[in-house]
Amino acid sequence: MEPSLRGAVVVRSYLGPNDERSLADDVLDGLTRPLKELPPKHLYDARGSELFDAICELPEYYQTRTERLILETFADDVVARTGAAELVELGSGSATKTRVLLDAMAGAGTLERYVPVDVSESTVHAVAEMLSEEYAGLSVHGVVGDFERHLSHLPAPPGPRLVAFLGGTIGNFPPGSRRRFLRGLAKVLGDGGHVLLGTDLVKDPRVIEAAYDDGAGVTAEFNRNVLHVVNRELGADFDVDAFEHVAFYDRRREWIEMRLRALDVQHVRVEALDLDVDFAAREELRTEISAKFTRERLEGDLAAAGLALVELYTDPDELFAVSLARRR
Ligand code: SAH
Ligand code: TRP
Repeated sequence: MEPSLRGAVVVRSYLGPNDERSLADDVLDGLTRPLKELPPKHLYDARGSELFDAICELPEYYQTRTERLILETFADDVVARTGAAELVELGSGSATKTRVLLDAMAGAGTLERYVPVDVSESTVHAVAEMLSEEYAGLSVHGVVGDFERHLSHLPAPPGPRLVAFLGGTIGNFPPGSRRRFLRGLAKVLGDGGHVLLGTDLVKDPRVIEAAYDDGAGVTAEFNRNVLHVVNRELGADFDVDAFEHVAFYDRRREWIEMRLRALDVQHVRVEALDLDVDFAAREELRTEISAKFTRERLEGDLAAAGLALVELYTDPDELFAVSLARRR
C-alpha cells in the first residue's frame, strides 16, 4: 500500500465535490464578464484528452515532436546534472514523452519513482498502470488533482526530485498566475531538486496560428468540447455547432488566444446555476491563451519564482525550449 514500496502502484484522487463547484464557479464567474472566458482545465474530460492526443500527432502541431526530439537529445545530460531518482510530471496527460526521461534515469541507475499529476482521472490511472508494467521495480504514485491546488499532496521524495512540466502547458497560465504557480512549484522541489519546463518559443505568427487551427479541424473540435462539458456537467444548453473556433496570435503580448465565436445571437440556459447567458452575434468566449517565450521572458519568470536557469535546451530551428532550473 505505501508508495515507497518498490514496484508499488497507488493512485490518490484529490478531486471531490469542491471541484465540481470549481467548474460551476468558473462558469458563473467567466460567463458573466464583459469578455466571456473559461479556464482551459475544463477542456480535458475523457473526450477532450483524446482529442488533445490527436492534436499532438497533427502535422501543424510541431510542439510535441520537437519537444520529444529535444528530450531524446538531452535526457542523459538532464539526468547527469540532477541525479534524479524521482520524476514528478505535472499535467502528464498520456505521458508519451515521459519514457524518454524514465529511460535515461533507468540507464543511469537512479530511477525509483514516477509521480504523474493530472486532473484527468482516466489518464492518470491508465498511465500509472502502463508505466509500472513497462519499468520493472518502478514505484508509481499517481495524483488525480489540480496542479494549482494540490501540490502539497505530493509524497516525500525518495531522493533527488525532478519536476517535469512539459508540452508548453505553463504558457496556458495568465502572466500573474504563471509566476505564482512557479513559486509554488519551487517549494516542492526539496533539497537539490530541479524543474524541467517545456515552453513554446516566439516565432513567425503564421506557424503558431496553424498549430492552433489545423486543416483537419481537430483543434476546433477540441475547443468546442468545453461547451459539451458545461452542457453535461451543469445542465446547460449551448448549441455547440453554432460556435466557430478562432485562434489568433497577439504580437504585443506574445501569446496565442483560442476563442469560440457565436455564429449568431444565442441564449444559453445553465440549469445548475439558474443562470441565463446571452451571446450577441459574433461574440467571443476565450477558452485559452498559450504564451510563447523568449529566453528573457523565461529567465524573468524563473527569477521571479526564486529559480535559476541551469541549462536551456532547444532544437536546431529553435521552435521549442526545454529549460532545466533549480532553486537559487
Ligand atoms: N504533458 C502532455 C499533456 C499536455 S496537455 C504533453 O506534453 O503532451 C495538458 C495536460 O494538463 C492535460 O493532460 C490536462 O488534463 C492537464 N491539466 C490542465 N490543467 C490542469 C490543472 N489545473 N491541474 C492538473 N492537470 C491539468
Ligand atoms: N498546452 C497546449 C498548448 O498551449 C494546449 C493546446 C494545444 C490547446 N492546442 C490547443 C488548447 C487548442 C486549446 C486549444 O499548446
